[in-house]
Amino acid sequence: MSERVIPLVDERARGGAPSTVRYHTSGPGAMAEVVPNGLLSDGLGRPLRDLRISVTDRCNFRCAYCMPKEVFDKDYQYLPQSALLSFEEITRLTRQFVAHGVQKIRLTGGEPLLRKNLEILVGQLADLRTPEGLPLDLTLTTNGSLLERKARALKDAGLQRVTVSLDGLDDAVFRQMNDVDFPVADVLRGIEAAQAVGLGPIKVNMVVKRGTNVDQILPMARHFQGTGIVLRFIEYMDVGATNGWRMDEVLPSAEVVELIHREMPLVQLEPSAPGETAERWGYANAAGEHDPALGEIGVISSVTQAFCRDCNRARLSTEGQVYLCLFAHQGHDLRDLLRGGASDVQIASAIAAIWQGRTDRYSELRASLPADVGMPGQRVEMSYIGG
Ligand code: GTP
Ligand code: 5AD
Ligand code: SF4
Ligand code: SF4
Repeated sequence: MSERVIPLVDERARGGAPSTVRYHTSGPGAMAEVVPNGLLSDGLGRPLRDLRISVTDRCNFRCAYCMPKEVFDKDYQYLPQSALLSFEEITRLTRQFVAHGVQKIRLTGGEPLLRKNLEILVGQLADLRTPEGLPLDLTLTTNGSLLERKARALKDAGLQRVTVSLDGLDDAVFRQMNDVDFPVADVLRGIEAAQAVGLGPIKVNMVVKRGTNVDQILPMARHFQGTGIVLRFIEYMDVGATNGWRMDEVLPSAEVVELIHREMPLVQLEPSAPGETAERWGYANAAGEHDPALGEIGVISSVTQAFCRDCNRARLSTEGQVYLCLFAHQGHDLRDLLRGGASDVQIASAIAAIWQGRTDRYSELRASLPADVGMPGQRVEMSYIGG
């Protein structure tokens, strides 16, 4: 007889966090066992390709758009060590996600490099193969503060590339945005170290906030043009419940492109993968054609041009909950299954049930609401499930 996987909503509140759906392997309401075949699709026909794994809910920065100091203060309750998935647990879950079709893994946080011995996890994930026998696209998002120290070990463990967050080049602006007085120069040294060990192609993510760092757009574009590093501008999003988001602080990506294009002409490029978050723009030569030597930028326009239609991303929180959208109100727990002795097929079946039930498309729905009207409910924080 096949085992059963039954979702139950757990009403326990955890410090105002979103509610949890739990999966059980016995009881009424049996669900068929699902043996993964790499072809899973959600309620809107979207495949599962990208898994973002948060390895810590802590960060050493306090960017106001993500972990504002007033909320994430010394009294803030982070997850206890016992709640975190171990590297072995993460790898075991990831193996099942990969069997279902995941091809790209991104390690995130909080700040993932704060997790001790992260290179051990990288090594375990680098050994995984897709059902076709291919290695995964294995990458990491970091604020760069510890990158200079860790780049070599990460590369040696099998990490392929990194994405570094950097919101400006002016030291005063950057120190104010990270809100812990962290200098630009140290992040730039981290980027150089990553480049030197071959953790590329490197991407740099800049969140653009009107009234805060719009004057950094051109200096950043000039700095990274022709370096092989892809700079991406991200619209400030209403993610989480603590950043006090306002529509009037969002600079639409179209304005970013226009601003850069006036000084450094751009041409639009084809997407490099389906479901991609960024729209690509290449720097043009005198003939108005893309010049690969000058490189490209990206714009991520979750607010003004939602990209939910092809969203193939699942998120795994530090404590083993699956989130189906960056703006989710609810997680789906896999840790209890893992720690309760579930078999691989039972875990794979739970992942199948979770993904097949997915209809999330928050950014598209937001676009149909009047500006400044938020969606109701307690949303998960980005520092908890990662970017
Ligand atoms: P690569 O291009 O493969 O390196 O990855 P990516 O495009 O997914 O980029 P990355 O992980 O660096 O994400 C960039 C930013 O896009 C994140 O920090 C978020 O701000 C935003 N983002 C990523 N995924 C989503 C998503 O699913 N929904 C929304 N609304 N925003 C997202
Ligand atoms: N809006 C847009 N991007 C955000 N990030 C965090 N909070 C926000 C937000 N409110 C993204 C940034 C950062 C990554 C870790 O998370 O891209 O680089
Ligand atoms: Fe930390 Fe990144 Fe959030 Fe800034 S955006 S507080 S660096 S996790
Ligand atoms: Fe995917 Fe949700 Fe982002 Fe839309 S808002 S792209 S569904 S994560």
